[in-house]
Amino acid sequence: MALLETQGLTAFYGDFQALFGVDITLDAGETVAIIGANGAGKSTLMRSMSGMIANAAGQVRFEEREIGALPAPDVMALGIAMVPEGRKLFPSLSVEENLLIGRYGRATAGAWSLQTVYDLFPVLKERRNSPGTALSGGQQQMVAIGRALMSNPKVLLCDEISLGLAPVIIRDIYAAFPKIRAEGASIVIVEQDIGQALKVADRLYCMMEGRVTLSGTPASVGRDEIHAAYFGAHTA
Ligand SMILES: Nc1ncnc2c1ncn2[C@@H]1O[C@H](COP(=O)(O)OP(=O)(O)OP(=O)(O)O)[C@@H](O)[C@H]1O
Ligand SMILES: [Mg+2]
Repeated sequence: MALLETQGLTAFYGDFQALFGVDITLDAGETVAIIGANGAGKSTLMRSMSGMIANAAGQVRFEEREIGALPAPDVMALGIAMVPEGRKLFPSLSVEENLLIGRYGRATAGAWSLQTVYDLFPVLKERRNSPGTALSGGQQQMVAIGRALMSNPKVLLCDEISLGLAPVIIRDIYAAFPKIRAEGASIVIVEQDIGQALKVADRLYCMMEGRVTLSGTPASVGRDEIHAAYFGAHTA
């Protein structure tokens, strides 16, 4: 039985339909990557799984429980934490205050605390009293990840954590993932950097225009297949 799954997931922004029957699964201990071009529906899928947008009943299940219609705070309390696209830090709060925000709504004991987040990203301890906005983009991304970890989630949803960052910074951030996995979190990452996704994921799904167009393990899917699933196969 999957830890988290969507079945026939549809999502709408008003009259606009963004997802058309998406089926994905995340097993306990797995890291799954979602790849796809701009507007494919990746963030909408993440918002659906985190309760940020409501879905029809029965379309999202977590630990065998229906969560598609639950609001975000309830989903977070169950153990699904989101690192949102664009980081969404509170600009007037310090690094430490931003991290502590992650505790509200799910003060569950577990591996992650201020101390262990600072061990994971030591630069954040140095900058603990700085406002979030005084940090570099990479450091802000570390705060966003740390904030999500502070709830000791069972599932960590990461939406485009490499976007706009230099390769050396992306490498530093992804270096934290084995430790996050080792503490028991299952992970869904959205990535536009396909190479990065293939490196870190046990399985991947490619989305195009609100549908899954390819799924498999990094070893089983070829670059050509990914290209076709990403941009559409053009048959003459
Ligand atoms: N708040 C919104 N209101 C209306 N339409 C939206 C909203 N957010 C996304 N959409 C539309 O839904 C579709 C899927 O968008 P989504 O943000 O999920 O794609 P994405 O794969 O995350 O893209 P990107 O790589 O640019 O982040 C797009 O057509 C987008 O324009
Ligand atoms: Mg997106």
